[in-house]
Amino acid sequence: MTAFHTLRWVDDSLELLDQRLLPARLEYPRFTNAEAVAGAIRDLVVRGAPAIGCAAAYGIAVEARRLRGQSTGQFDAGLKQAFDVLGASRPTAVNLQWALDRMRRQLDGSAGLDNSARANVLLIAARTIADEDVRINRAMGTHGAALLPDVCCVMTHCNAGALATAGHGTALGIIRSATSAGKKIEVIVNETRPFLQGARLTAWELQQDGIPVTLIADSAAGHLMGQRSIDAVIVGADRVAANGDVANKIGTYMMAVLARRHGIPFYVACPLSTIDPDTPDGRAIPIEERSTGEVAGYGGMRWAPQDIRICNPVFDVTPAELVTALITERGVLDSPSPAGIRELLGR
Ligand code: MRU
Repeated sequence: MTAFHTLRWVDDSLELLDQRLLPARLEYPRFTNAEAVAGAIRDLVVRGAPAIGCAAAYGIAVEARRLRGQSTGQFDAGLKQAFDVLGASRPTAVNLQWALDRMRRQLDGSAGLDNSARANVLLIAARTIADEDVRINRAMGTHGAALLPDVCCVMTHCNAGALATAGHGTALGIIRSATSAGKKIEVIVNETRPFLQGARLTAWELQQDGIPVTLIADSAAGHLMGQRSIDAVIVGADRVAANGDVANKIGTYMMAVLARRHGIPFYVACPLSTIDPDTPDGRAIPIEERSTGEVAGYGGMRWAPQDIRICNPVFDVTPAELVTALITERGVLDSPSPAGIRELLGR
């Protein structure tokens, strides 16, 4: 168990750990309507594919609670708007749409009940999604830990930890599970420009757990892979296409190319909810572009010249051929291929 929670339901509202303030401050603002939850997802108060899926599900639950005293027509119309605004909050991580689709099925299935009963159904559904996420991460942790040597050094990129999920984490979940199983894991954390999820979040999370961690600039990754023994790279994913291409935080593709160059296994930890059979390959994955200010500076300080042209895609696609294996709650899929993914999904 970590000493913090990424999200939880308290006093009829959704409480989120404001990840923009970490590691300097732990603050837990509360959210009581879908519009505000969508804003929190958009502004990266909460981030990471599974975590934004859970937050969106709770966003529907808070909105249903807020609207439960209104007429059936107003309740339905208000929730339709909530699905729209939450669905548009971030484009790349498919877990967001996956969670909303699941909530929509619950809403449709509750037609005929009164608004309060429907709001309860939606709250239970959101809690179930979050509870399942933790169980899934632990299962992935067990499968992934078995791939790691008893003493090893793992590189990771961005934050795929408890902060990016309802708890335990995907890539960091594997590291946590391996450590709990008695393996001696040292972690090299890429800082992950431009938003520094590695430096601010992953380094902090691992430090809290007492797992040995070394922070590096992203640009030091190739040098370190060549100079010292890095036994594996493990990252999370925002969307895995039907052919095994993986969208994850910008810079992941570089790490995969470097890992292949140095003969290091490149593992992607992803719950099945991150695999999107409706997206044929990486070219069809929408890549989010964020504010140019994230590249021009950080935390109110600008270092780039004024009026410079800036491009800020925040995800990239790693082709399936560079992925050693996908690690899921259902097991490990080596060298992901369309057939392997279909079989994994039971299709
Ligand atoms: O922009 P972010 O911080 O939401 O990006 C997060 C990532 O890219 C993670 O690696 C991914 O969501 C997997 S989290 C288990």
